[in-house]
Amino acid sequence: MDEEKYVDYLKENEEEKIINLSLRPKNLEEFIGQTKTVDSLKIAIQAAKGRNEPLEHLLLSGPPGLGKTSLAYCIAHEMGKKFTSTSGPAIERAGDLVGILTNLERGDILFVDEIHRLSKVVEEFLYPAMENFQIDFVIDKGPYAKSVKFNLKPFTLIGATTRKGMLSSPLRGRFGLFFDFDFYNPEALSIIAHRSAELLEVQIDKESCLEIAKRSRGTPRLCNRLLKRIRDYAQVIGEGVVNIKITRDALNQIGVDGEGFDKMDRKYLETIIGLYRGGPVGIEAIAASLGEDKATLEDVVEPYLLNKGYVIRTPRGRLATRASYNHLNIPYESRQESF
Ligand SMILES: Nc1ncnc2c1ncn2[C@@H]1O[C@H](COP(=O)(O)OP(=O)(O)O)[C@@H](O)[C@H]1O
Ligand SMILES: [Mg+2]
Repeated sequence: MDEEKYVDYLKENEEEKIINLSLRPKNLEEFIGQTKTVDSLKIAIQAAKGRNEPLEHLLLSGPPGLGKTSLAYCIAHEMGKKFTSTSGPAIERAGDLVGILTNLERGDILFVDEIHRLSKVVEEFLYPAMENFQIDFVIDKGPYAKSVKFNLKPFTLIGATTRKGMLSSPLRGRFGLFFDFDFYNPEALSIIAHRSAELLEVQIDKESCLEIAKRSRGTPRLCNRLLKRIRDYAQVIGEGVVNIKITRDALNQIGVDGEGFDKMDRKYLETIIGLYRGGPVGIEAIAASLGEDKATLEDVVEPYLLNKGYVIRTPRGRLATRASYNHLNIPYESRQESF
């Protein structure tokens, strides 16, 4: 893993996309964790079905790899409707949406990933589509141009975003249901690891599943990724059977430490502590020092570290807490007051 570019570390690569399709939960019963979200969704789905109406538009938000796409897929399955998927950056012009929208049947699900990255024009085109299932589009050019209204069948838009704060308020206002994803606890991740192992036909014990779970940064995608790495390791080093020793050795070799932090997490903390005396330091400065994209740090690296209390956000920037010093074996008392 250490040769890999960090930026990709929570994104799915091509091989993963295919394997993950088989690991993806297929319905809400198979969807592990996020119980508050799943419970309220079940009620919303049952109610919508009872009234024979499409589900309200819903927005899923949270860090990458927590199951937003999977959940959207499960919802379509539960509603018994077609699932169409696109993403903010993929829709360049409003025209790209016309075909997609007019192909939707009543109650179908349109999934828009990274919805915060829609262009303003496309976003505005979506407003009437979401609100009263109508689109206005302009045909012809110049003096003959005219605007045509088109009625759509009532559909459900499911938006997913890692940045709820970047959504404009008119767009946010057009959603009826909102679900924020939480990091998973080790127990839930351990069940996910176990289930994935079964699907991948990997022999593994409970202890190893829990170890992987504890070192997956609360993230199912990472949990599955580590499992696959460990499987490979077991195949080469052992007899293909995963036990706790093989698990620990493999994780250490990959560079994932006891807290589940990888090289990027540690470099991030080392930068705040070593270069900026523990902070507070602005995210721009950290990004520049690491030669990393600010958005990547904010979307991928920071959420877990903030959630676990390794850093805190202050008006003057990021501040490393005692937990970070402890983790890196740097005496907290050694820090100097910044000036
Ligand atoms: N609740 C869950 N139960 C089981 N597996 C999950 C769950 N959430 C995510 N996964 C696994 O993690 C992978 C990544 O999830 P995904 O839905 O792509 O995350 P996101 O869209 O939030 O980035 C999925 O392919 C699936 O294998
Ligand atoms: Mg996704």
